[in-house]
Amino acid sequence: MSVSGEISPPLRRRSRTLAIATAAVTAAGIAIPALVNSSAAGSSIAPWLDASRPTSARVDALLRAMTLEEKVGQMDQQLVTTLTDPNSATCADNGWNLPNTACMQKILIDQHVGSILAGGTNNPPDTTGKGGVGNTGADWATEYNIIQRYAIKNSRLHIPVVFGVDAVHGFGHPYQAPLFPQSIGMGATWDPAAAQAGGEVTANALRATGWNWDFAPVQDLSRDNRWGRTYETWAEEPALSAAMGAANIKGLQAASAGGGLKVSATVKHFAGYSQSVNGHDRNEALLPLNYLQDTILPSYAGGIDAGAGAVMVDSGSINGVPATASHYLLTDILRDQMGFRGVVISDYQDVPALQSTYHIAADLPGAIAAAVNAGVDMSMQVSNPDQWQAAILQDVHTGKIPQARIDQAVRRILTMKFQLGLFNQPCVADPAKPCVNPNAADAAVTAGRDQTLKAAQESMTLLRNQGNVLPLSPDSKVVVTGLSADSMTNQLGGWSVSWQGVFGAGHVCCMGPANQIPPGTTVLGGIKAEDPAAVYAPDQATALADASSASAYVVAVGEKAYAEGLGDNPAPALAPDQQALITALEGTGKPVIVVVIAGRPVGLGPAEKANAVLMAYQGSTEAGQAVADAIFGKIDPSGKLSVSWPSDAPGVGGDFNGGAPSPLGDQPKFFDQLPGTGSGPGHSYNPLYPFGYGLSYTTFTNSALTVTPTVRTHGNATATFTVTNTGSVAGTDIVPVYVAQPVSAVVVPPQRLVGFARVTLNPGQSKQVHVTFPASALGVSQGDINSAAPPSVEPGGYIVQLDKDDTTPYDVDLSANFTIR
Ligand code: BGC
Repeated sequence: MSVSGEISPPLRRRSRTLAIATAAVTAAGIAIPALVNSSAAGSSIAPWLDASRPTSARVDALLRAMTLEEKVGQMDQQLVTTLTDPNSATCADNGWNLPNTACMQKILIDQHVGSILAGGTNNPPDTTGKGGVGNTGADWATEYNIIQRYAIKNSRLHIPVVFGVDAVHGFGHPYQAPLFPQSIGMGATWDPAAAQAGGEVTANALRATGWNWDFAPVQDLSRDNRWGRTYETWAEEPALSAAMGAANIKGLQAASAGGGLKVSATVKHFAGYSQSVNGHDRNEALLPLNYLQDTILPSYAGGIDAGAGAVMVDSGSINGVPATASHYLLTDILRDQMGFRGVVISDYQDVPALQSTYHIAADLPGAIAAAVNAGVDMSMQVSNPDQWQAAILQDVHTGKIPQARIDQAVRRILTMKFQLGLFNQPCVADPAKPCVNPNAADAAVTAGRDQTLKAAQESMTLLRNQGNVLPLSPDSKVVVTGLSADSMTNQLGGWSVSWQGVFGAGHVCCMGPANQIPPGTTVLGGIKAEDPAAVYAPDQATALADASSASAYVVAVGEKAYAEGLGDNPAPALAPDQQALITALEGTGKPVIVVVIAGRPVGLGPAEKANAVLMAYQGSTEAGQAVADAIFGKIDPSGKLSVSWPSDAPGVGGDFNGGAPSPLGDQPKFFDQLPGTGSGPGHSYNPLYPFGYGLSYTTFTNSALTVTPTVRTHGNATATFTVTNTGSVAGTDIVPVYVAQPVSAVVVPPQRLVGFARVTLNPGQSKQVHVTFPASALGVSQGDINSAAPPSVEPGGYIVQLDKDDTTPYDVDLSANFTIR
């Protein structure tokens, strides 16, 4: 074999022939049957195509039959646009066309590429003959069928390709799909069942199109609102993030009742991606190792323990080492400590970045060796697959990458392909058949609107309700105004039809067409449906002109859609024109209800003193209905913040703790409230709204708290208490359960979230609830900033704590002692 990795012409020719011959012999001496008629005689079927064998036996047989070139090709993921380039000479990331046969031959067969990625802007072409970008479920399925059938039919060993895509809040690319609240809003539901339902809806859409490797969920913690991917995180607290992620993965990876392909989730971005030193994406994070162990890793562990098939690596560096090249993170911690057994994929172009950005490798072979030896099994989008082949083969031939490491990576990738059912598609046995049915794809992609609405309703977080101005009576005359009052684009945010959001037909945003706006309900639509007298004021002048007849203003403000990079913001806040509008509306004396449509807490400016503030997040295609339901009292808003909300009021503290003067004088308070702490009130925790905060139209109390008195370090404890609805309407209460450790050998958080209850009660109704948590949730790393000791549980006294009532949020004034032995 040549060092360059080029397959010799005779072998390549033979590969083509094998696909249509009845039997032949591989380099490894295994008979390769024809794809068609392979079942005619039991003896002619290749062992890995024999569905009656166990997966491990099929993987072993296939690995034995593969050449080195075929193996390393499995470790390469290329953009789908390399196949849709109309120029067969380049086969590069160009254009939106039907897959080009010459490029499929080059990439999938000659270079043996094992995985295809649709990035945020790579929507498929129209497949009905109209030309241009298509982007229906059927278009996705058709593009998949063309490519998959080609790969299966023409690859020497008939190995299917695995197709990956970011379906982070529903299958966000096809424009017809209902999209769930972004994860930060899902986190506010504190409802793992909603995250699981979201996973199931997403998986059904993905499996119907064949794009069944999902690059979700994000298990990075929300620890710095400046970071433009905060909206993709569930929460600042590991226990909540882990619970939501685990449930979501369970839903994503569940087998479908109707059979068909399975879906793999991807826990990302391992590890500590959200905590760069300056809030910018893909940057340096400096993480004391005990903090990494105690706080950062448990969120990822929630997803890994739920069985996620894949893990994606952080694009940044930790303590001076790019995560992509960190053997410590990707092998010592992820594999050896956390027990992950699936596929590790790099993030986008991060393997060559070890040379080009991080300069820790002199050339591409050096970069690949660093990544693969650290633990990366598959590289996402190395720009040039020719160079990839040559470089990785060189690494193997020079001994920089051991052959055993290649086999280990490929075994994991093939195992995933078998587990996803890729070898059992109809097109494997008969290439004349489609792999997935494009006629069923649109129905699967459009399903799930009820689950989306339910999640959106549960996410509504009422932050302020002066004089119980809400709920409004449906015979009010509401004047609806503000930037986001009628903007599906803003209420969906990033990863919606296109990477940075959907901006409408003909709008070419951020490297790709961001075309058709998904169907759904905006705030204006939702309010008009529930209040026929409501009027829309498109600007400030009209809004003020309507003052005399208005019974209240609903002003929808917040952030425009964004995603990676473009979303970073040193001080996220309502824009000056939005603040001016709110001030002007407040000047009319009419009630002002501020609806915040944003992917993270934002500085509210004058809205801090509005009559009501409702956080609606980037709250889904159905967010407008959920907002109207909350405003008119069709639902009791039950969302609770999964992140601390800082104040940007000059020189004053948050109104929750009484507004202590800032040592920074007139500087925005923001800077001493960022990043959020999330570990309980502790020292100087003084946000505008704390973690877990959210008002309701009713009131609740918690009482009769008890806890398992004595637990072993590997055992479980159960907190038992009674929740009562003491108000006059039905509602749902969320009760965070914390544990404090009064005496410890090392510094521990003042209190740690270990679990929570979500209880729906009629007025006057009480219910006893049990929250069980493992003692291991209280583990602390006995190490320090430089030491890597995994957490262990200290025997001793602990205190379960929760809030007795809603009068002073976060004061955890109900407690019970227990002992860990
Ligand atoms: C993002 C990942 C994503 C990948 C593929 C990257 O830019 O960081 O989260 O999965 O693109 O679209």
